[in-house]
Amino acid sequence: MKKHIVVIAGDGIGQEVTTVGKQVLDRVAEKFGHEFTYDEALIGHAAIEATGNPLPEETITKSKQSDAILFGAVGHPKYDNDPSAKVRPEQGLLGIRKALGLYANLRPIKLFDELLHSSSIKPEFLQGADILFFRELTGDVYFGEKGRKDDGNTAYDQMIYSRYEVERIAVKAFDAAMTRRKKLCSVDKANVLESSRLWREVVQEVAKQYPEVEVEHQFIDAAAMLLIKDPRRFDVVVTGNLFGDILTDEASQIAGSMGMLASASVGDTTGLYEPIHGSAHDITGKGVANPLASVLSAALMLDISFGMKAEAEAVVDAVDQVLKAGFRTRDIADANTPKDLILGTEAMGKQLLSKL
Ligand code: NAD
Ligand code: IPM
Ligand code: MN
Repeated sequence: MKKHIVVIAGDGIGQEVTTVGKQVLDRVAEKFGHEFTYDEALIGHAAIEATGNPLPEETITKSKQSDAILFGAVGHPKYDNDPSAKVRPEQGLLGIRKALGLYANLRPIKLFDELLHSSSIKPEFLQGADILFFRELTGDVYFGEKGRKDDGNTAYDQMIYSRYEVERIAVKAFDAAMTRRKKLCSVDKANVLESSRLWREVVQEVAKQYPEVEVEHQFIDAAAMLLIKDPRRFDVVVTGNLFGDILTDEASQIAGSMGMLASASVGDTTGLYEPIHGSAHDITGKGVANPLASVLSAALMLDISFGMKAEAEAVVDAVDQVLKAGFRTRDIADANTPKDLILGTEAMGKQLLSKL
């Protein structure tokens, strides 16, 4: 099969991890007889430096013309510490999600058996944890009206959802639940927020179409607690943009590290595949970033955008084998990991390629 992929590496470790993600895609193409062609595009701080715009028009055009996008990360400390900056790297990511209509962000939380002891959660509560988050990605407080008034002394961000936005993400989540353990948890704050009451109303309506799915509703505060108390009680979780952002960083600790969590941002057009982590300034340029989130995002691309199930499985299997062989990046190493098995980004990539 011929496929055209746009790599949008972005900032910080985005560059380092997508390099490995792309190498893995190349190896898959070679092994399975596909032809993947690539283009690159700018976003975030890198795009601001080059063009003044965190999301150049060319990036959107190239993305729309591609079969899938491999995305790294955006962000730079310069902006994190300057609340007054009007042009910001993150606008690039939010902009491309909106421009491509990527309303569903799938974030699988899969614990590889070998990483049972990498997590700070006790192994007996973790073993077998397997959650699929559906984070709504183009609505909520992220895209509501925002601004300042009273000479800048008051600021607001409107939390807003429309029925159709909740409906379409709920349908995706229920469809997925039907292929899994048929359990769905919807997370909101309906005891306080009107937008959450609409959310809950719509999820209850959609649930009627899926009588086989066992549905529960949890408030975000309780859900955050339950996720750590008993991660195995969850199968599919569906939630809004902000709650999903926060809950999945928390859930990364179930899988051992932020460096393990992949995601697929999909909608009606080209899919974008992105680790859930950011540009990680604290480790940028040190060559120690865990590339597995990017590699597993590439696996999601193969599966979801290209329908290449065997290829996707081969990638996940290679990750599994590398972990079984004892290799770790720093973030997933534990006190018992021998020093010579702690690899940098590039060396981890090489190990993966050797297993593929
Ligand atoms: P972060 O995800 O970049 O980092 C959080 C912590 O996790 C850091 O200690 C980092 O070293 C570690 N980490 C993350 N990815 C890792 C990996 N692959 N391997 C090993 N360790 C890893 O979040 P942050 O520090 O809150 O944000 C840094 C910047 O990234 C900010 O500018 C933020 O806006 C941006 N950000 C971007 C995205 C994205 O592009 N999708 C996501 C989150 C944050
Ligand atoms: C993520 C990030 C982004 C978000 C930021 C960088 C805009 O945290 O992809 O999880 O909040 O969606
Ligand atoms: Mn996030």
